[in-house]
Amino acid sequence: MVKKNQKLVFSGVQPTGNLHLGNYLGAMKNFVDLQKTMSCIYCVVDLHAITTFKNPTELRGNILDTTAGFLACGLDFNKSIIFNQSSVSGHSELSWILNCVSRVGWMNRMTQFKEKAGKNKENASVGLYVYPNLMAADILLYKATHVPVGDDQKQHLELARDIAQKFNNDFKSVNFFPLPEPLIQKKLSRVMSLRDGTKKMSKSDDSNYSRIDLKDTKDEIRKKIKKAKTDSSPIPEKVSDLSNRPEALNLLNIYSFLTNSNLEGTLNLMQGKDFSKFKEALSDVIISSICPIGEEINKLKKDKSYLIKILKEGTLKASEIASKNLKEVKEIVGFV
Ligand code: TRP
Repeated sequence: MVKKNQKLVFSGVQPTGNLHLGNYLGAMKNFVDLQKTMSCIYCVVDLHAITTFKNPTELRGNILDTTAGFLACGLDFNKSIIFNQSSVSGHSELSWILNCVSRVGWMNRMTQFKEKAGKNKENASVGLYVYPNLMAADILLYKATHVPVGDDQKQHLELARDIAQKFNNDFKSVNFFPLPEPLIQKKLSRVMSLRDGTKKMSKSDDSNYSRIDLKDTKDEIRKKIKKAKTDSSPIPEKVSDLSNRPEALNLLNIYSFLTNSNLEGTLNLMQGKDFSKFKEALSDVIISSICPIGEEINKLKKDKSYLIKILKEGTLKASEIASKNLKEVKEIVGFV
């Protein structure tokens, strides 16, 4: 299916709750666009999800929820491969081999582990520690060349390149693994929390008011945007005046992105206005882009067997590429 030397996109999303506005603007929109020009593989990364304990019933629900989110946002299972990670055993197998290529020193530099493990490092799962090696395995299993990620995943992607290079060198297999390139959206690489403009909008934030879920109703969206943190100054004239106003910048960025404009354009339109007025306009554009997706997710979620069927079809296609590549890896490594 995938020809030699062809560009191939791989990306993964963790099934850890509802997809939110940050996932949509920072990732899904880009995923959808890439389908037009490249072969793409989009994976619900359930093996990554269990690096911190997950209730099995909730995990099952979340895997289907994320799949529904993929489809509702516009991923096309006829064009792209859509599947869940645990259903292709090659991810785990290659991840072990790459654990033996990757270095402890490299792992120790990963900032996301430090953030996630926090003070309780001794009690973090070993899986959480080697999570970036699994991510490298996801990408390299398909010999993917391009990886759309948010900028918080840039370091993990650099690690994947280092691992690919070391594998190629150690086993004298020049160019066996391509070195994957990040595709980071310049316009909006991060959507921030509505409660704290210095933190990324995240599913794991305790406060529901920190994010807009794709399944939020119109009323919920209006309420959350109304409550979103801002400051007391009106909207400024120049972009440079936003440098110490992270919450204001975030809301203006979201508006710009959703209206296909840029920050300058939005400031031209909104300068001098109070945030309360701007927030009404912002709610309107969020509602018109998000609510149809939320409705589609709810519709799709009612038909579990359909979603499972989509994943199964994706698994078959993914397995075909994975097993061929894994066979080559095993030969290179010296397994009999
Ligand atoms: N670690 C990524 C995240 O948390 C998800 C992920 C797993 C991923 N495997 C991947 C992203 C491979 C890109 C490619 O967002």
